[in-house]
Amino acid sequence: MPDKVTDIVLAAERLRAGDVVAFPTETVYGLGAVAFDPRAVERVFAIKGRPANNPLIVHVTGPEMARAIVAPGAWTDAADRLARAFWPGGEHAGPLSIVLPKSDRIPPIVTGGGPNVAVRCPEHPVALALLFELQLPLVGPSANPSGSISPTTAEHVRAAFNDQVPVLDGGPCRAGIESTVISLAGPRPRILRPGLVTAEAIARILGEEIENAAPQPQPGAPLDAPGLLPRHYAPRTRARLLDLNALLDELRHAPHARRVILSHSLSDAANIITLPTDPESYAHRLYAALREADARALDEILIERPTGAHPHWRAILDRLTRATAD
Ligand code: TXA
Ligand code: MG
Repeated sequence: MPDKVTDIVLAAERLRAGDVVAFPTETVYGLGAVAFDPRAVERVFAIKGRPANNPLIVHVTGPEMARAIVAPGAWTDAADRLARAFWPGGEHAGPLSIVLPKSDRIPPIVTGGGPNVAVRCPEHPVALALLFELQLPLVGPSANPSGSISPTTAEHVRAAFNDQVPVLDGGPCRAGIESTVISLAGPRPRILRPGLVTAEAIARILGEEIENAAPQPQPGAPLDAPGLLPRHYAPRTRARLLDLNALLDELRHAPHARRVILSHSLSDAANIITLPTDPESYAHRLYAALREADARALDEILIERPTGAHPHWRAILDRLTRATAD
């Protein structure tokens, strides 16, 4: 059993020695390993059960470290503007990963064999302190078994990997859903995974329209990013996404079914978990609520489909759609 890592210096030492250590970010907890250490990165894939062709995000201290791990000349003016606007300290700070051609210093295993690397600077004091202490880039996929719900507390990570990975505890994650992933590696900027940094906000910084990832992944359609599987972020219990009216119909027709309901319109009851109505609080709560619902081990989870117009709902709907896909 790994020792508890309560100390940033100790966590950095273990990472430097080739260990995997889970760390908090503002979005979800990540499974950290030094990006230049292919054996440590291999362990991350093994622990998660992640397919080898699904690339990992590399966490950096800021634009300077990012520039050092992308290909010469790849840190363009657009990349720099996005990083300065959205990475910590920026006027519009929010979780954003930027995909760019990779430098030869990044081992192919990190990028699933592909030519591009996703870089992101997390806005969490513990993550930043760890990165500054290390002075090395860290891979950090969400610290959950591949395909299941991302962890938003240290306890969630321990529940999945207690005997395998020490966890640096930074409390519950503020944002609660994963970073926006934007590719600047193609002819036009394109969002590969929606998140709380929206296409609209990016468009304002770059001064051009931004293409969004397909909101509803169609089975069999080509994947936008290797990791954007139709079913992802999913509880073990069967889950369905329903409009409020359909949900009320179900409740009327089968009031005693063995199920849990996640709703932002219905108030708390024995089998109802009430979620907040504003998208930021909803995102913050969502994964813990899905886990609570899953832990009750009933026959199904019904989720009320949010209908709000705020662009943050797009990222939430993306996660709900994947959590409820067959
Ligand atoms: O908020 C986050 O991004 C969290 C925290 C821990 O930083 N990390 C995270 O990593 O969500 P992961 O591995 O669970 O999801 C990364 C997503 C995957 O869908 C992956 O396919 C995509 O980003 N991705 C990573 N590198 C990529 C690349 N080079 N090209 C295209 N997509 C990439
Ligand atoms: Mg993940």
